[in-house]
Amino acid sequence: MADIPVALAASPGSSVIVSEWPSTGAATTISELDSRRIGVCVARAPSLTHESLAEANEFCLRHDIDLLIARCRAEDTLSMQCLEADGFRLMDTLVSWRRSLDRPAPVERSGQENGTIVQPIGPADEEMVCRIAAQAFQGYNGHHHTDPRVDQQQASEVYISWAMRCCREPDAADLLLGAWRDGELVGFLALKDLGQGLCTVPLAAVAPQTQGQGVLRSLLAAVVRWLSERDYTAVEYGCVLTNIAAQKALARTGFEMSRSAHTLHKWYDRPLDERHR
Ligand SMILES: CC(C)(COP(=O)(O)OP(=O)(O)OC[C@H]1O[C@@H](n2cnc3c(N)ncnc32)[C@H](O)[C@@H]1OP(=O)(O)O)[C@@H](O)C(=O)NCCC(=O)NCCS
Repeated sequence: MADIPVALAASPGSSVIVSEWPSTGAATTISELDSRRIGVCVARAPSLTHESLAEANEFCLRHDIDLLIARCRAEDTLSMQCLEADGFRLMDTLVSWRRSLDRPAPVERSGQENGTIVQPIGPADEEMVCRIAAQAFQGYNGHHHTDPRVDQQQASEVYISWAMRCCREPDAADLLLGAWRDGELVGFLALKDLGQGLCTVPLAAVAPQTQGQGVLRSLLAAVVRWLSERDYTAVEYGCVLTNIAAQKALARTGFEMSRSAHTLHKWYDRPLDERHR
């Protein structure tokens, strides 16, 4: 693995949490980012239960919300069934993988033997990062793509915009690692510091022509090594349940499944005269 300059280190304990993961007790809020991306008025309920359902519905009606994107812990089957009965539809299931950094690393490939060099990248690499995201997330299995009412092109563009934010905005990512082969960027992985020694991976992708050749595995091995050498205790990586390739790479680099959550969408279709009252 190439050396990752300390100068680019994210400082443990800094900044805002930008996890896609449900946060306990979080209220329903309007998502301006999703609204811009999808072109309708979108709200998010990061941790919806049968108990908070009425309040979430009331919020959406009061704010003329078209689409509510909700997360529900997978083990909370009672809430899931209540949400289904209320008109929510299951779009995807997220699985969070976690790697504790206080135990010795298993034998992990450095990346060098498959010709991959892992190095930090920055704003100058934004165009290439976005191109990889555009190719890799075409027709992806995430909740934007699986909702038949969301335009497929707009769904793919969500990931390009997400990749761009990871390059530009500190609230999206603290560090971007790039995987290089023969001088060409073939993959990237974003890292976000959640504080208290925990890091998460908001986004990662590998160019389609280089997939299945161990690039993600090299990126993950680099992350584990880099975080282990600093004050971090664990790293989390969330992906959709159907992403076998990502989960194989995670399992091979010592990550373990830790929790899961469903993503549900509810569309509030109301006649025009009922709106803006
Ligand atoms: C997911 C992704 C990042 C994996 O990157 P990658 O460099 O291809 O992954 P790796 O080669 O390191 O490891 C993938 C493993 O899964 C295997 N694999 C790949 N596709 C597979 C599939 N459809 N079914 C089963 N196994 C698969 C590979 O053979 C490899 O197994 P190995 O360790 O036995 O060799 C890449 O496929 C990608 O960018 N996909 C689209 C975007 C995406 O899913 N991003 C991640 C979001 S969490």
